[in-house]
Amino acid sequence: MNEAYFAANRASWDERVGVHLRDTTGVYPLDAFRKGADTLTPIERAELGDVSGKRILHMQCHFGIDTLSLARRGADVTGLDFSPKAIAAARAFSAELGIPARFVEANVYDAPATTGGGFDMVFTSWGTTIWLPDIDRWAAAVAGCLKPGGSLYLADGHPAMMMFTERDGRLELGWPWRNAKDDPSIEDDPQSYAGDGTPLANSRTYGWLHPFSAIIGALEANGLELEFLHEHEMVPWRPFPSMVREGEMFVQAPGQIRIPLAFSLLAVKR
Ligand SMILES: C[S@@+](CC[C@H](N)C(=O)[O-])C[C@H]1O[C@@H](n2cnc3c(N)ncnc32)[C@H](O)[C@@H]1O
Repeated sequence: MNEAYFAANRASWDERVGVHLRDTTGVYPLDAFRKGADTLTPIERAELGDVSGKRILHMQCHFGIDTLSLARRGADVTGLDFSPKAIAAARAFSAELGIPARFVEANVYDAPATTGGGFDMVFTSWGTTIWLPDIDRWAAAVAGCLKPGGSLYLADGHPAMMMFTERDGRLELGWPWRNAKDDPSIEDDPQSYAGDGTPLANSRTYGWLHPFSAIIGALEANGLELEFLHEHEMVPWRPFPSMVREGEMFVQAPGQIRIPLAFSLLAVKR
């Protein structure tokens, strides 16, 4: 059944690439990126440290602008994504801007075999494990891509935040706190989160929410030791319509009861 879920999700991501490439919402700041802007968020900028000279695998790289931002910081980068349209757009950005990078079209679960592994760092952010039914296979793939002493940097929406949806200005529960492999949450978003209103033909997607115990447990079971886990009150997209922009990020509107919006972690392969 996984293949049917992946096929539906891939079709939706292929279609979203076209929408995101003409993004008018600013979630993907392509004009600024073309002029040299770094697309990493303030969270990543504060936590990543010096990446120059590191071999980095960017998992679920979408059309590669964060991958190329890492390359601009001196990293030797490989981006991996299962959407052929995303990989084609990433290669086009790399060629247009003259930034060397390798892009691999593959499922995350096949990353060790398709990339060859041996990386200093796996970097993955903002819309990652939610697309993956099997968190243990994900952690095994991350571990399989790293050399000993290498690290995983992950930044994403907070599992608590992801349970909520907003209706008439009020947060209410929309997702279970975790999904079994064969019991995804089904979304029918008529347009992309970063779109210009263009309706999506491939609007149905399947997602799996994984709590911290599952993510960290899977990493530890695969030989990755947690260095830090941080929680944040900002996120780089607008999960709830009432949220307000604060600099490059979105935060809850004044007066709302605060919930954690994002997390970031670093884990090192023993
Ligand atoms: C929200 S985007 C991540 C955005 C990314 N942080 C960036 O730099 O733009 C999620 C990406 O995951 C990819 N994806 C989803 N499931 C995948 C899978 N099983 N294997 C590989 N890529 C996958 C999608 O094609 C999409 O490009």
